[in-house]
Amino acid sequence: MKKMLLVSALLGSSLLMASAEAPNTEMIKKTMQNLERSMSKIQKGFLYNSRARIKGGIVSLRRDLKNIDSFLITNDADVKFNAKVYATTETKALDTMASKIIEDFDKGDKEAVMKEFNQVLNRCVTCHALVRKW
Ligand code: HEC
Repeated sequence: MKKMLLVSALLGSSLLMASAEAPNTEMIKKTMQNLERSMSKIQKGFLYNSRARIKGGIVSLRRDLKNIDSFLITNDADVKFNAKVYATTETKALDTMASKIIEDFDKGDKEAVMKEFNQVLNRCVTCHALVRKW
């Protein structure tokens, strides 16, 4: 019984520690990890020449992009731009580009497809560079 109490006390304190983080940090991470997974899926689609994989990746990417503009970039205190506006504009641009990927894939324009994929990835990294102050 004593052991049980100790375990629950430990669990309780680790839960408390987790909630002491910035409120939306977990949500940002989850969204971002989903975005990364979608990008990998799209890339796999290219490598395996699987339209279904590309399409699936685009659909989930667009779904998670919607969550980007619902949070503020956290450590933007000394960044001289409006992070919220930036995130919203980026999200729209990324969304448009993502849907172009599948359109151009269906047209058989592989060159445009690769270009758009890289543009999407560049935009991911551009925001990270700002956030991480590279
Ligand atoms: C408008 C800004 C913005 C854009 C655009 C953006 N991210 Fe992020 N990303 C963040 C922030 C904020 C974090 C959390 C802070 C950090 O990791 O430096 C993050 C973190 C991440 C992480 C690390 C998550 C973790 O668990 O540590 C991955 C992976 C990631 N992003 C993938 C992507 C991908 C893929 C895209 C493009 C499809 C993308 N991001 C676009 C702001 C952005």
